[in-house]
Amino acid sequence: MNQSYQKYTAADHEMWRKLFDRQMAQLPAIASRAYLEGIEKVGFVAEHIPNFIAETNPRLQALTGWSVEVVPGLIPHQEFFEFLAHRRFPASTWLRKPDQLEYLEEPDMFHDTFGHVPLLTNQAFCDFMGDLSRVALRFMDVPEAIAQIGRLYWYTVEFGLIKEDGQTKIYGGGILSSAGESEYCLRDAIPKYPFDVRTLLNTSYHIDRYQDHYFVINSYEQLYRSVPDIEEILTEMYLAVG
Ligand SMILES: [Fe+2]
Repeated sequence: MNQSYQKYTAADHEMWRKLFDRQMAQLPAIASRAYLEGIEKVGFVAEHIPNFIAETNPRLQALTGWSVEVVPGLIPHQEFFEFLAHRRFPASTWLRKPDQLEYLEEPDMFHDTFGHVPLLTNQAFCDFMGDLSRVALRFMDVPEAIAQIGRLYWYTVEFGLIKEDGQTKIYGGGILSSAGESEYCLRDAIPKYPFDVRTLLNTSYHIDRYQDHYFVINSYEQLYRSVPDIEEILTEMYLAVG
């Protein structure tokens, strides 16, 4: 699919600017360094919606070999993991309207693009998503395993926190694209647990409100190195013979 960039109106660019400025007023102090550097590396600015073909993808390709692939909205699991396994990040292009500043039932382009794309400049993070997706594709016929991989994806790519220089920072795209949750998740009163594969595979989540708790990684390499463990656990659970 095509981004149909010329279809974005002045009001759409204005909405992007508003959302961009609102997030960037708070993220420099609380977002992961790799994410903040990624904003610069992919060339995202407040003034206009990123043009994937002309601006974003050539930069991503040169940095990590990944690219943004336009999709109509939520897509089936198999298609989703196939995109990621082939280093393509599926992103929708519709943008929320002024009355949807806070709450969305479905991810829009601000979430998909602003929330996720900057971290596609980090090789270890990209390799984690690619490898996790290859594991998911092995388990496509086992809905329970896909649900468990979904939890892992949720608590990392969407709602993950990372320890950097002794401080807890945000790298999950679901948080980074939400003004309210960016502030909420780092409050002292909200439980935060160390990243642990078995725990994540067995922890359910909410899609309709802020999370009850968050999981903290020590590095993107830790995520990448966890994939063989994930595969081994799921293989034992679902594919072991005898
Ligand atoms: Fe997302």
